[in-house]
Amino acid sequence: MAHPFKLFATANSLELGKKVADELHTSLGKLYSTQFSDGEVYSRFDESIRGETVVLLAQANLPYHHLFELFITIDAARRASAKEIIVIIPYLAHSRQERKDDSRSSISSRLIADFLEHSGADRMITVDMHSTSIEGFYKIPIDHLQMAPVFLQNIKEHFDPSHLALCSPDFGGLKRIRAYKQILDCDLVVINKERLKPNQVNTMEIIGHPEGKDVIIIDDMIDTGGTLCKAAEILMDQGARSVTAYCTHGVLSGKASEKIQQSSIKELVISDSIPHLELPGKIRIVSCKKVIASAIEKLMQNKSIKALNTL
Ligand code: R5P
Repeated sequence: MAHPFKLFATANSLELGKKVADELHTSLGKLYSTQFSDGEVYSRFDESIRGETVVLLAQANLPYHHLFELFITIDAARRASAKEIIVIIPYLAHSRQERKDDSRSSISSRLIADFLEHSGADRMITVDMHSTSIEGFYKIPIDHLQMAPVFLQNIKEHFDPSHLALCSPDFGGLKRIRAYKQILDCDLVVINKERLKPNQVNTMEIIGHPEGKDVIIIDDMIDTGGTLCKAAEILMDQGARSVTAYCTHGVLSGKASEKIQQSSIKELVISDSIPHLELPGKIRIVSCKKVIASAIEKLMQNKSIKALNTL
């Protein structure tokens, strides 16, 4: 028998929350949130959740009040006697800081894990974590979902595999593109990227042969767009026929969207793990709603989630 649950979404997540609710043929529960005039966040469940399994979707991207709203909403659920609190955080902020990259720096990704657990979360579901080692920061179970099956289907619908090359913009993403290669059976290109400091790419060197190929860059996130635009430029200089990118998390900070628009990138495909009001022409969204809804369904039926990530 299916496990009963109540689905809620934080203020920033209402649009995706409604889509997920529709997929599950349910509706969102009543959650009220506001801010005091100094910005202090307030959150309250406007229906009883006593003894319930609460599934809370939170697009907790920056600014920080989204993340803080999540912490206090989990706390509210715990204090309202929810039986179990499952949080779904499609984009896990601070994932890039999962190790000390220099002496006297923080491992803030670990702090986020501590905050979530201390708030009272019993389980966390996320999509395309920057590094799987982050799972080790949590004592609660983590379900790590992937956009790869959705992106792969999309690539198959839009490209002729005989002219394709898959590209990772750094060595860290090599494993990711190898998984796609098993299905698409095409060439691989890797970029040897060096950074001087966060968000600033210093050098890039192409390893592989992009000449005459429709190159598809796969990455977990695009933030300033620096990595992607520079990669596209170099790939085109080296004879690529076109460069398209599939990045799960469209952080798109600062002038990233304009940068993409002016770059040699043909199209950037992102998920809606982070909400955006408006996006320019070259950026297309492929929703993560089905991935999340399917995971909730499997979880409630105590069925394996691994199959969802299988390409
Ligand atoms: C790096 O390891 C990530 O996978 C992305 O390539 C990076 O975070 C993108 O950042 P930006 O768009 O600022 O270059």
